[in-house]
Amino acid sequence: MKKTDYFSVRLVNNELVFLDQTLLPYEEKYFTTSSYERIALAIERLEIRGAPLIGIAAAYALALSQKEIFNFSLFEKAYERLKSTRPTAVNLFSALNRVRKIVDNYNVNNSAKGEIFNLLIAEAKAIHNEDEDMCRLIGINGLSLFTKKMNVLTHCNTGKLATGGEGTAFNVIKSAFENDLVNHVYADETRPLFQGSRLTAFELHKNNIPFSVLPDSAAASLFALGKVDIVLAGADRIARNGDSANKIGTYNLALLANYHDIPFYIAAPSTTIDLTTDDASGIPIEQRNRSEVIGIFPENEVTKNIDVYNPSFDITPSKLITGIITEKGIFNFPYSF
Ligand code: MRU
Repeated sequence: MKKTDYFSVRLVNNELVFLDQTLLPYEEKYFTTSSYERIALAIERLEIRGAPLIGIAAAYALALSQKEIFNFSLFEKAYERLKSTRPTAVNLFSALNRVRKIVDNYNVNNSAKGEIFNLLIAEAKAIHNEDEDMCRLIGINGLSLFTKKMNVLTHCNTGKLATGGEGTAFNVIKSAFENDLVNHVYADETRPLFQGSRLTAFELHKNNIPFSVLPDSAAASLFALGKVDIVLAGADRIARNGDSANKIGTYNLALLANYHDIPFYIAAPSTTIDLTTDDASGIPIEQRNRSEVIGIFPENEVTKNIDVYNPSFDITPSKLITGIITEKGIFNFPYSF
């Protein structure tokens, strides 16, 4: 098996096989299920994560809820359950709605046994395959930004672990590296859940890309030392005006890049652009459990009473984003998609 043969999700014999990302980088353990509830839990627990991947997994889960026999009330229940898992990544909602449309447009009374299930699975697979293609094109489109061998700063995880293909921002880095245009990658550790030091480090290592991990709070000093040539990050939801929600800490990098006159790019498939949301004010930000921040300390009188602010995402205003790399090309401010 090649070092890069790991995968995030795969449909095998009508069951979803997924890599449990909470165990990385220590264990590469795959879990197999056809239960939509188990997949919903996996999304909530971040065993499956990253905007495009959440959408793909939810689409498979909704289709799998109809594996035995078509049951509309179960379909609705599964749809609502999956929709409630995480609020920010728009891919979750658009993928679920795509699968739902198959049912809406289908005459269930005339259906041959199992036919609707096959159609639902085919739609989920199409969402998966299309994401793989979009990742490939994002990698190609982003290459034009590398005018020389560069040092890249990235945040969170945007690779194979977060998408149905080779990644978004990560695939731009990977394509540039394969073209000998990457000097070094700096990966923010991405507190509190360490998607940088656990997952991006895992993927950079697997691809033999030279990298360093830094505490999120060290980014400013890296800019001050002149070590950053370009910032590349992903997105969970991009509003119509280009305001972009991504992992908490992304906004910090955009501010730093702006101050230091360094290009700051977001890479995302067009499925992450939410044209029904005008701007940042319409993007729901997930607040996560206090234990993710404070749970590392043993509980005592002080720690058990500490209140925690733990938003999972922040929003980078569009005017701080030099460009948004999509499968269709690179968009620039003022954004019109
Ligand atoms: O909470 P997570 O790990 O799901 O957050 C993921 C991110 O913020 C990614 O940067 C984003 O989804 C883009 S993935 C291509």
